[in-house]
Amino acid sequence: MSASNECRYKYEECKDTADWLLSRIPQRPTVAIICGSGLGGLADLLENRNSFPYQDIPNFPKSTVQGHAGRLVFGELRGKQCVCMQGRFHFYEGYNITTVTYPVRVFFLLGVEILIVTNAAGGLNPDFSVGDIMMIKDHINMPGFAGQNPLCGPNDERFGVRFPCMSDAYDKDLAQLAQEAAEEQGCTSYIRHGVYCMLTGPTFETIAECRVLQMLGADAVGMSTVPEVVVARHCGLRVFGLSLITNKVVTDYDSKERANHEEVLETTRMRTEDLQRLVSHLVGKL
Ligand code: HPA
Repeated sequence: MSASNECRYKYEECKDTADWLLSRIPQRPTVAIICGSGLGGLADLLENRNSFPYQDIPNFPKSTVQGHAGRLVFGELRGKQCVCMQGRFHFYEGYNITTVTYPVRVFFLLGVEILIVTNAAGGLNPDFSVGDIMMIKDHINMPGFAGQNPLCGPNDERFGVRFPCMSDAYDKDLAQLAQEAAEEQGCTSYIRHGVYCMLTGPTFETIAECRVLQMLGADAVGMSTVPEVVVARHCGLRVFGLSLITNKVVTDYDSKERANHEEVLETTRMRTEDLQRLVSHLVGKL
């Protein structure tokens, strides 16, 4: 058996995890929110919270990255039953790609219908500024180009079809609602729309790589989100995604700028409350 098959989770394992959670919470969440690096504060906005550290949840992977609390938080946001992932799993941490997406299948079995994903990303589009919030209209699954698609391997029809469509990955109606939420909040000046490209990381991109990604039509680049979205669409969840542009990528050989994690965290701190407000306003409109 190949390495990629060894870590595939069975339907029954996902079901065990979902049943374990359902027997411990009064909530029946219909919305799941995956909080990106430094964006986990969203989970603290939930009311009547029930939290589960990842290490306490059967079959759940454990988070290793700094700035990720690593817990599942259930509760109500603007009257909607939600579950938040405070800290996600990244391929660069060494997880198998199917481990990264495991929680999404658990959400599906919990009865979740809508997935909201957030991430920190580097701005490739020259018109973008640090601090902009990009509504994701499409993605480029670069690891998928290289054979790392979480749906590789035997297909379980209880989750979805063998060959799922991805041309409608990001739900237009949810994006429209989010746009209205942004307008109502008066924050459209820093809202952008664009294509998110995932690379595995953990290295930031070279100058030549950034130029290639720009030529491919990507507006933002990051190290997450796409595997979760692929698995969510496979099992029929509607998806909305936001990228916080934490830095502008370097495309000029004379530039003294260097991509670094500190800048990513600093921008995240600056904008995290605005992003939280936008997501909670959107959830209120669902
Ligand atoms: N590249 C990749 N991932 C990122 C970046 C970046 O510039 N910024 C935040 N996440």
